[in-house]
Amino acid sequence: MADRSVTFTGIKFENPFLLSSAPPTESENNILRAFEAGWGGVVVKTIGLHPVVNVIGAKTKFNRTSPDDNRVSMKKAPGSALHSSWNWELISDKSLDWWVPRIERIKAAFPNRVVIASIMAGSGSDKELQAWQTLTRAVQGAGADGIECNFSCPHMDRKDMGSNIGRDEGLCSVVTEAVKEAAKIPVWTKLTPATHDIVAEAGACFRGGADAIVSSNTFPSLPVIDPESLEFEINVDGFVSSGGLGGPAILPMSLANMARMTQAFPDKSFSGIGGVSDFNQALSYFLLGAGTVQVCTAAMLDSAVGPNVIKRLNGGLDAFLDKHADKGWKRVEDFRGIRRDRVKLQSEIRRPDGDDYQGGHEAVEGYAAPSAV
Ligand SMILES: Cc1cc2nc3c(=O)[nH]c(=O)nc-3n(C[C@H](O)[C@H](O)[C@H](O)COP(=O)(O)O)c2cc1C
Repeated sequence: MADRSVTFTGIKFENPFLLSSAPPTESENNILRAFEAGWGGVVVKTIGLHPVVNVIGAKTKFNRTSPDDNRVSMKKAPGSALHSSWNWELISDKSLDWWVPRIERIKAAFPNRVVIASIMAGSGSDKELQAWQTLTRAVQGAGADGIECNFSCPHMDRKDMGSNIGRDEGLCSVVTEAVKEAAKIPVWTKLTPATHDIVAEAGACFRGGADAIVSSNTFPSLPVIDPESLEFEINVDGFVSSGGLGGPAILPMSLANMARMTQAFPDKSFSGIGGVSDFNQALSYFLLGAGTVQVCTAAMLDSAVGPNVIKRLNGGLDAFLDKHADKGWKRVEDFRGIRRDRVKLQSEIRRPDGDDYQGGHEAVEGYAAPSAV
């Protein structure tokens, strides 16, 4: 049988596939079902100390697109394919006290599966930094194998929270350092893609002592406006706020961020997220250097915790190792990062030479025919 196991930031995983911090991991029952289905690990829905009240109505919807017109819409049309998820859900609305006994019970039921606790507080005062430490001590006392700091929630109004931390190098370092001070278990930091230079924030987290970077959370976005009603396809009383885009649409953008970070820090650990629904997408992250991969949108659409998704991921990894056995690849580590250095500056990419060179005037799909003027 194929060896699916990986050791990531010192934690042993039966397989490198985790449910990310999101609705699939919002309850004890979901997480137990996820482990029964075969997930190697889960990142628990983000836990904070502040009271959380979500908007009225739907917190997540799914955009689909049809082959005829490429229209992106939350309305399901026959023959349409998934484009993305859109959400404006906040962190867990359950308290730390609610979570602690549940993490204990989950670890007791599945001691060999990995439970990472996602946590979030502010960063604007010593009290907020202490809140990170309170959360850290509580979840590690409950038996969590690691901590994921949420520097990435895209819809926080507070300037010292969520992706507002992930956009600020100084805050990334300071908060990571505060968590590391209290942590005896590995600390991962989950970054936002909504930043000018994610490599800068990754470096700041590593300077603060982070054991891994998780990339990434959803992309800031709006629902589309319905051309008939002229209303946002998801709204409350006609109003909407910026939310987060996940699923297939964000895969190429997430891969670009991953490549930039793994090139800048080839010896560090990265967990890839964004648009994974089967092994083909997970493979792109591994080839760029990620050591584990996380899934949200695809799992939400598969019985809420992704029993078929994890079957496809594990089956795909087994088949891949089997197909490449002649290369001596026995586990993820043997092929991890082998395409990392294929991403180059544009000017370093070979140009056609001699007679092949058309000065950029060859016919290209989607462009008008070449003309002299
Ligand atoms: C409804 C919803 C809620 C989410 N809640 C959290 C959260 O509490 N903490 C967090 O770190 N990420 C949260 N995320 C982000 C996901 O964990 C993940 O990073 C993102 O959806 C991209 O992965 P995907 O393309 O597989 O969906 C949430 C995503 C969705 C769709």
